[in-house]
Amino acid sequence: MQTFHADVIIVGAGGAGLSAGIAVAEQDPSLRVALVSKVYPMRSHTVAAEGGAAAVIRAPDTLEDHFRDTVSGGDWLCDQDAVDLFVAEAPKALTRLEHWGCPWSRAEDGRVQVRSFGGMKNERTWFAADKSGFHILHTLFQTSQRFPSIQRFDEVYALDLLVAEGAVGGLTGLSMQTGEAMVLLAPSVIIATGGAGRVFPFTTNGAIKTGDGMAMAYRAGVALKDIEFMQYHPTGLPGTGILITEGARGEGGILVNKDGYRYLQDYNLGPPDPWPRRKAMEMGPRDRLSQAFWHEQKKGRTIKTSAGDDVVHLDIRKLGEKFIDERLPMVRELSRAYVGVDPVVAPIPVRPVVHYTMGGIDTNIDTATDLAGLYAAGECACVSINGANRLGSNSLTEILVFGTRAGLQAADRARSQVDRPATNWDAQIQASFGKVSGLMARTAGNESIVGLRGQLHGLMEGAAGIYREDAPLRAACAEIAGLRRRYRELAISDHSKVFNTQLFQALELGAMLEIGEAMVHSALARRESRGAHQRLDFPQRDDVQFLHHSIARSGGQDAPSIEHKPVNISRWPPGERVYGGAAK
Ligand code: FUM
Repeated sequence: MQTFHADVIIVGAGGAGLSAGIAVAEQDPSLRVALVSKVYPMRSHTVAAEGGAAAVIRAPDTLEDHFRDTVSGGDWLCDQDAVDLFVAEAPKALTRLEHWGCPWSRAEDGRVQVRSFGGMKNERTWFAADKSGFHILHTLFQTSQRFPSIQRFDEVYALDLLVAEGAVGGLTGLSMQTGEAMVLLAPSVIIATGGAGRVFPFTTNGAIKTGDGMAMAYRAGVALKDIEFMQYHPTGLPGTGILITEGARGEGGILVNKDGYRYLQDYNLGPPDPWPRRKAMEMGPRDRLSQAFWHEQKKGRTIKTSAGDDVVHLDIRKLGEKFIDERLPMVRELSRAYVGVDPVVAPIPVRPVVHYTMGGIDTNIDTATDLAGLYAAGECACVSINGANRLGSNSLTEILVFGTRAGLQAADRARSQVDRPATNWDAQIQASFGKVSGLMARTAGNESIVGLRGQLHGLMEGAAGIYREDAPLRAACAEIAGLRRRYRELAISDHSKVFNTQLFQALELGAMLEIGEAMVHSALARRESRGAHQRLDFPQRDDVQFLHHSIARSGGQDAPSIEHKPVNISRWPPGERVYGGAAK
């Protein structure tokens, strides 16, 4: 077993983790940063982001508009102090990336170009064609390499946090390359491991997004906040779930049903607001567009593909080949490669797909959890700026703003802990590696990874999809508890040490079962409809009883407890969500 000492450990080397690492290194080059990731940094899921990052850049846009779009888009579940901070920091974060070399797309006059995104009144999404995540990640990765104080631990799977006297002290991990056990010790730990879309079967999320970091914090007693809010993106490719960026609609693409009809003009979902009768249509927020698809499907107005999927058509033909190749080259590339459609000449089949985990590790506005020394940022965290429904392009900015903030906070704490007495971690280390050796030693068992994961997927999609209701959620709570019991009997057939992908899939499955259970229990407890959480049995938003954050705490092998926490409504009381130009 190898032991490493650092000042700040960061788990996850995507946009949030790299931003945190750079912030620590810039603030104090003497602090040792251990950057731990189960994949090589450029394989982090940030790379898959397409459409862009939101920040106010010029008139007529204002910070107030960005604040209001975000809060109403989140159906008033966002913490307004966090949103205020976020919108103020956003332009600085994107400008800093520009200085580090991010090739933002430009207008004719040389200024940074911005495009429209759903639920936003003004154009404020900065983009690098439709490969924004790739360019942002690349910029951060190359910048991080300037700092010798950042030591990378690529392809290391973080197992468990080490905790004593209410504070974190490090973590256990496994080298995926060699199978070797590792212990990393530091007074500050930042979790930046991304979301948990893989808990669902059909998702834009890469295979790595299994919620491990969230589960690691949850097992250590930290709450998951608003974890019932799972975002469906309205336009994924059938079959694979690959994202077709909202940028395609932002640039003028339209959605039509099987009759070639622009069906969004018919919808007035949820509270009695005028959306989208005026001009929002395709530029409405994601929750409402995905709900509209569900209704079209029920009315038999979607299109059946030869593989049996129900889809609608995203038509961008009017943009023309030159424009598509310049602004949306990846949309063209992906459509041709994965559904055999060239969007220059034919509409793209699309359907809603699980995309983003709005909830996550409960943090305050400074990214701190209630476990001293533990911070979280990015999609794995719930600060919360996204509330019940994140607006597209806020998340790339969020990883920069709150990743940096986490780094600064973690650095401060590390400096304040230099005289902390050493702790004996032996018992916790043994218990953590004991779970792995137990799994490796089990040679016979009736349960398989594929079998348990498939059943979890079926339950999540059936009970916690675009629309939810009591009976399926209740059944899913009971059945996932059963899957967790059966997981303890899981046996794996590969007992080798080098890149044992079966072992890591088994560990990921354990995390997904924990997160899935927290999701369905939180969804069952929220007996109202808000944002991405729509209950057929409670169709209205209920601010009297449910304008609060859900707080799920692990019950160990038992069911989680679901408690509440107030939402910070510092200056804009709840109102109707209005789209189409009249929001102020
Ligand atoms: O559609 C997109 O490009 C996705 C962006 C986002 O989720 O922020």
